[in-house]
Amino acid sequence: MSEKVTFRVFRGEPDSDGDPFGKMVDYEVDLDEGMVVLDVIHRIQAEHAPDLSCRWNCKAGKCGSCSAEINGHPKLMCMTRMEEVFEEMDDETVPVLVKPMQAFPLTKDLVTDTSWAYETDKKIKPINGPIEPDWEFHQEEADRLQEFRSCIECMLCVNTCHVLREHQMYDEFAGPRFFVRLASLEMHPLDTENRIPEIKEDFGIGYCNITKCCTEVCPAGIKITDNAIIPLKERVVTEYFDPLVNPVKTAINISSGVLSYFTEDFAKTSDPGNLKKAKGASEDERYRAEEARKLDAKRTDKARKRFRFKSK
Ligand code: SF4
Ligand code: SF4
Ligand code: FES
Repeated sequence: MSEKVTFRVFRGEPDSDGDPFGKMVDYEVDLDEGMVVLDVIHRIQAEHAPDLSCRWNCKAGKCGSCSAEINGHPKLMCMTRMEEVFEEMDDETVPVLVKPMQAFPLTKDLVTDTSWAYETDKKIKPINGPIEPDWEFHQEEADRLQEFRSCIECMLCVNTCHVLREHQMYDEFAGPRFFVRLASLEMHPLDTENRIPEIKEDFGIGYCNITKCCTEVCPAGIKITDNAIIPLKERVVTEYFDPLVNPVKTAINISSGVLSYFTEDFAKTSDPGNLKKAKGASEDERYRAEEARKLDAKRTDKARKRFRFKSK
């Protein structure tokens, strides 16, 4: 790994129209073993630019504050080792590009305004448990939710989603983060609220074309598309287009020419199927946790080897 690195960082603020206005500025700093991108940003602040704005809190991949685009890839700055950044580059001598998330309005430098997320969150009906709770439910159902609860609200998935980023459908589409939230409520074994009409109409789940880009960037490893969005789409199909469940609604919807939801495998949404899916998701969750542990062990091992090599 190089001993020095040049970071090309976006510096700027919104202009009078609210559009980002600024330029990319180069900073060269020394690199120490094991540094992550956020360490380099802190060193730039300490040595060159004390007014460089960036948001962070935990430095442990838990608070979701330090999201940015590193060489064009949406990532958490605190969880991205410089070693990984160099591995993805052909030439270690070219500057590393660091930009704020492009799907949100700029506040300053690397900080963006994510108020849209808070406003969207407010539109979601909260959990509505039964008056006489039946506290018995399957462990698989709890495990299934656990995956959704591991969201750190970093908004990297939202930043990646073309429906928002390219097509700017902020009013019509809730985005992957909030489909994860909606799934956590809809699949809650004690929740009695029905959010399916909003999921179809207000949150525009039909605009998602299952590209899985959101899943690829999620630092929590949530299978956003497979485990949250597709099951929600299936529930919309059942509610609006399954002639066995709802013949009148289906007739109206078919006659109005709305057939796109039939592309989903809606036969799997009956209750026994849901339990089967919950079991599948629970296995996935165990697999995900195991993979995360392996990755962590690999990183630690790599870091130890480097340390031993250096101290010889
Ligand atoms: S799968 Fe859907 S929500 Fe995720 S990035 Fe693609 S269009 Fe957006
Ligand atoms: S779903 Fe993943 S990428 Fe999206 S906000 Fe939550 S942790 Fe971040
Ligand atoms: S500082 Fe908390 S996730 Fe990076």
